[in-house]
Amino acid sequence: MDKILVTGSNPLAGSVRISGSKNATLPILCASLLSSGPTTITNLPQLRDVDTMLAVLTTLGVKIEKKGPSSVILDTGACDQYEAPYELVKTMRASVLVIGPLLGRIGKAKVSLPGGCAIGSRPIDLHLKGLNRLGANIELSDGYVNLTAAGLKGTDIYLDFPSVGATENLIMAAVLAKGETIIAGAAKEPEVVDLANFLNRGGAKITGAGTDRIKITGVKELQPVEYQIIPDRIEAGTFMVAAAITKGDICIKGVVADHLRAVITKLQEAGVQMVDDKEGFRVYTRGRAGLAGRAGLADRAGLAGDLRPVNIRTLPHPGFPTDMQAQLMALMSVTEGVSLIEEMVFENRFMHVAELNRMGAQIKIEGHGALVSGVKSLSAAPVMATDLRASAALVLAGLAAKGTTEISRIYHLDRGYERLEEKLRGLGAEIERISD
Ligand code: EPZ
Repeated sequence: MDKILVTGSNPLAGSVRISGSKNATLPILCASLLSSGPTTITNLPQLRDVDTMLAVLTTLGVKIEKKGPSSVILDTGACDQYEAPYELVKTMRASVLVIGPLLGRIGKAKVSLPGGCAIGSRPIDLHLKGLNRLGANIELSDGYVNLTAAGLKGTDIYLDFPSVGATENLIMAAVLAKGETIIAGAAKEPEVVDLANFLNRGGAKITGAGTDRIKITGVKELQPVEYQIIPDRIEAGTFMVAAAITKGDICIKGVVADHLRAVITKLQEAGVQMVDDKEGFRVYTRGRAGLAGRAGLADRAGLAGDLRPVNIRTLPHPGFPTDMQAQLMALMSVTEGVSLIEEMVFENRFMHVAELNRMGAQIKIEGHGALVSGVKSLSAAPVMATDLRASAALVLAGLAAKGTTEISRIYHLDRGYERLEEKLRGLGAEIERISD
């Protein structure tokens, strides 16, 4: 298995371009099932999860044609299969997003239950409750969920929790249903909006995406379209932290600031400087004297430049994204002072704490919260990636640690970051991938 070696580097400098959003790509690829004919998706990120989703669609009869590194044509004319197998679903929970479009397109779906993953049990009860409200008959057997629907009928649905996946599955199931569907308590993530924009371009009638009340008026059919995926806000946030933790000065191209307000605000609260101009999104930290000297904040100036500790509580959008929690924890672990980081979305998303502590961080978990006491510097150690965003946090910590950190199980990283080490090297980082 591959490993990554990252050496505590000089301040990052230069510019980097953000790839397409993984979490917008996955539902949109599934949504192509709702129309018959060639759908073209551009700005597609080259990720393991995208390859897995393309494999799932291939088993459903979709003809896939890659047009260059970040474009694909999906011909869904002959989509007549309806089973997503365990071998694929177990590697990527987002495979359950084929359920809504399959029900809408052919009236049945047989999908392996996703099972848990490193960050939690990840049930799909909210998906199934809403699909049942739309008229689907649901049976669970042998680890599969079997759904059939003679014809879905629009209705009112209330989500007990603003689940991103449930919102996306229900939108996709409702676009070809008879009549009007209201999803109350819907997720407001930018990726939900991108899915709605994709479907509306094909002739769907969806309003309210991005709010907690989404209305879908069923139509007879959708047309295949060409669509460009939005930039990946979590990749952008990860690079913002990379600039801050190395006291660097970088320009990130392709950031949509509105998709990342909570992260930008929190980093500014910590003392990270940001300027969103036509060149791109500049992120840097002022030298210690620049801030502390003037305002007598020496006692609060952090160790990563002039940063200050901040408290984080992850919440559904527009709250602070859970997918940025591990990355902020890495930054706080080298920021003088104490930060409280609360994970309110997933039940087990602190797997990176033990690994960061192996590098000399001082983090103590108390239930949903982690108390982080910033240390002067981390020290390199062999560490293990446990899930996608935890892997990113370990790379960030390695960039700020003394010595060379070896990160194993980086297949987790490849699920959601396109050519991360290449992009970081382009900013001056000392990082390489080795085959073990
Ligand atoms: C999406 O996962 C993202 N994945 C996740 O990103 C992200 O962390 C998450 O939304 C929250 O923002 C994709 O979009 C492919 P949820 P999803 O349904 O849809 C509970 C990454 O790193 N829940 O909003 O699976 C669930 O257990 C990944 O890119 C139910 O209880 O997230 C969790 O505690 C990780 N029942 C919470 O809701 C359900 O039926 C949020 O889950 C569904 C969810």
